Amino acid sequence: MSTQIKKIGVMTSGGDAPGMNAAIRAVVRTGLSYGMEVVGIKNGFKGLLAGDIIPFKSSNVSDIIQRGGTILQTARCKEFMEREYQERGADMCRVFGIEGLVVIGGDGSFQGAEKLANLGINTIGIPGTIDLDIACTRYTIGFDTAVNTAMDAINKILDTSSSHSRCSIVEVMGRHAGYIALWCGIATGAEIVLIPEEDRRTNDDIIKSIVENRNRGKKHFLIVVAEGVGNCQELAQAIEHITGIESRVSVLGHLQRGGAPTALDRMHASLMGIYAVDLLAQGKAKRIVGYDNGQYVDYDINEALQMKKDINELRLRAVQILSIK
Ligand code: ADP
Ligand code: F6P
Repeated sequence: MSTQIKKIGVMTSGGDAPGMNAAIRAVVRTGLSYGMEVVGIKNGFKGLLAGDIIPFKSSNVSDIIQRGGTILQTARCKEFMEREYQERGADMCRVFGIEGLVVIGGDGSFQGAEKLANLGINTIGIPGTIDLDIACTRYTIGFDTAVNTAMDAINKILDTSSSHSRCSIVEVMGRHAGYIALWCGIATGAEIVLIPEEDRRTNDDIIKSIVENRNRGKKHFLIVVAEGVGNCQELAQAIEHITGIESRVSVLGHLQRGGAPTALDRMHASLMGIYAVDLLAQGKAKRIVGYDNGQYVDYDINEALQMKKDINELRLRAVQILSIK
């Protein structure tokens, strides 16, 4: 297949996610298969501004599909919010002859990609974030690994929580998104899941629900809280004080962002990487790759960023219905 584009770049940006390496590998090898030159931009937009750009051969991406993190490293770059730095970024792409740019990251990174696209750089976004909070796609690379990591950790906490008849409050990642919390909560039988997208329930509501569950014979309790909701310690103290049930807080933190990607993450990352470079080879740009109804799809970057995502009502109901003894 012939292509107009001779040189492409790939970067990872924002929070890292397991599977980003698999996506880099796919972008590099697909680009090379088209006869394109492929370069890696280190540390996201920060590395672009610094010209921290390395050439890629196929062998440079050997042995990385199974590794968490990102070999290109990632960063958050505040300056890139400003027009002056976005123009510098676009100029840097031109200086290095980068005709197509693949940005693997979350919605923040796509805002940066959109700015570059509006300045004439052919950009394609691949959704890579453990948060699953990108509206135009049903899947984001890293989510499955993160949920399974969190679920395994919660299973261990449940062992000790049930031995001691305690209430365990587990904080999972998600400053603005409750998907990890909701999925883990359903998968581990949590009585309560607190997510930033929902109106905050009062401590009294939560305690009432725990007492009702205790009256039905439950001896230990699990509350999964998304990071963005906060106040886990305060909640634990209130539960212990009012009900007498010993309560403990565990914050899972960054362990959820690491580890070998699951097969699902490797698969989506590999296929989205190919899809992204195919788009560039077809002369398309300003697109975000998504996954919907079993198919890979793409959207205009400006339109994709306007889309809104709702939390699935059935999943919210599932927490309440399925944890009742
Ligand atoms: P994620 O991509 O995981 O959502 P962030 O929200 O931290 O992570 O965004 C990553 C980077 O994307 C930021 O550090 C910044 O460089 C860039 N970025 C975010 N928002 C914008 C914006 N509105 N305009 C330009 N660049 C942005
Ligand atoms: O966006 C991914 C994410 O892991 C969120 O779930 C979390 O709130 C945030 O990044 C944490 O960011 P940092 O690594 O900067 O603490």
